[in-house]
Amino acid sequence: MTRVLIANDANITEAAGSIRAGGLVAFPTETVYGLGANALDGQAVAGIFAAKGRPSFNPVIAHGSELAMLEEHAEFNERARALADRFWPGPLTFILPRKSNSGISELVTAGLPTVALRVPAHPVALQLIAKSGVPIAAPSANRSGQLSPTAPHHVSDSLGDAVPIILAGGPAKFGLESTVLDLSGARPVILRPGAVTAEEIESVIDENVAYEFDVKEHAPKSPGQLLRHYAPSIPLRLKAVDVAPGEALLAFGSVKFMGIKGGGSAKDLPKDSFRNLSEGGDLLEAAANLFSYLKMLDRENHACIAVMDIPDSGIGIAINDRLKRAAESAQAL
Ligand code: TXA
Ligand code: MG
Repeated sequence: MTRVLIANDANITEAAGSIRAGGLVAFPTETVYGLGANALDGQAVAGIFAAKGRPSFNPVIAHGSELAMLEEHAEFNERARALADRFWPGPLTFILPRKSNSGISELVTAGLPTVALRVPAHPVALQLIAKSGVPIAAPSANRSGQLSPTAPHHVSDSLGDAVPIILAGGPAKFGLESTVLDLSGARPVILRPGAVTAEEIESVIDENVAYEFDVKEHAPKSPGQLLRHYAPSIPLRLKAVDVAPGEALLAFGSVKFMGIKGGGSAKDLPKDSFRNLSEGGDLLEAAANLFSYLKMLDRENHACIAVMDIPDSGIGIAINDRLKRAAESAQAL
C-alpha cells in the first residue's frame, strides 16, 4: 500500500528515516516529483529502477540540500561554483567529474566517471535531504515512458504500490525537468533543456554554451552524447557456462557447477578474477553491484570477463541491457 503523507515536520522526519533505512520516497521538487533513494546505497538505488520499470540503467541525479553536501562527491571547478552560487537551489543540474573517493553508488552514475548533481528549490525536498543526511538519487517519479509527475496523485497513478511513501507537497511549479549542463569537458554543454536557459548561464560564466540536443524535438542531437555508457577495456562473454584459463568470472547465483576449462572449479579462481553479483540470486543486489564489479574485473591481465546468465525478468532486463551494451562496445575497440 502506498501512503500519501502531508509534508509536515513529523512526516518528513519519518520519510527521512525511511531513506536512511534503504527505502524509496517520492517527494516534490520545484520541477517535478522525484522518486528518491539514498544515493550511497546501491541496493536502494536499484529499487528506483525496479519501481520505474526502466529497461535500462541511465545515470540519475544526486540531490543535495546544499553545495557543501555535494562537494564531497565531485570536482567543482570555477564555473560550477559560480553557477551554483547563482542558480542553486534551482532547476539546474551539473555534470561534473566524480571524486574517486565518493561513496555515491556506481548505479547512480551507471559506471560513468561523471556524476549529475543538483540542489532543488523546494522546502520539502531540502528538508527531506537535510534530515536524511545523505544525497538522494532521484529520477522523475513515473513509470518509464510515462509523463513526468507534477502532483502526488500522478505519482500514485503511475507507480502504484511500487512507491511506499509519497510526501505530498502540492503541485510542482515548473512541471518540466531541470536543465542538464555538462561541465566536465572543456566547453559547457546543455544535454537537456529546462527552466534555466543558455543565455542565463552565459551571463554568469561569460562563455558560450553549446547544445547537444535538437531544439525542435528536445531529443539528443548526437545519441553518442547522452547515451554514452560504461565500456570495459576487455571483451565480455555473456551467458557463460564455464570459464577459460585467463578469464575473469562475473557470477550470478551458485557457482557450484561452474568449471574451469581444462580442469578446476570456479571456486578456485583468484579473488581478483572473481566476483559474484549475488550469491543468493537476488536481482536487486546484482544491480547494485553491477558496475563496481565490472570495473574491478576490467583489467589487462584478464583475456575476457565471462558473465553468467542473468534472468531476463524484472530489473534483470536492465542488467542484461547494460551487459549487452558493454559487450558490444568492447568488441568495437
Ligand atoms: O528536474 C529534474 O531534474 C528531476 C527532479 C526529480 O530533480 N530529475 C530528473 O532526473 O529528471 P532523471 O534521472 O529523470 O534525469 C537525469 C538526466 C537524464 O537525462 C540523464 O541521462 C542525465 O541527467 N544524466 C545523469 N547523469 C549523467 C551523466 N553522468 N552524464 C550525462 N548525463 C547524465
Ligand atoms: Mg524522467
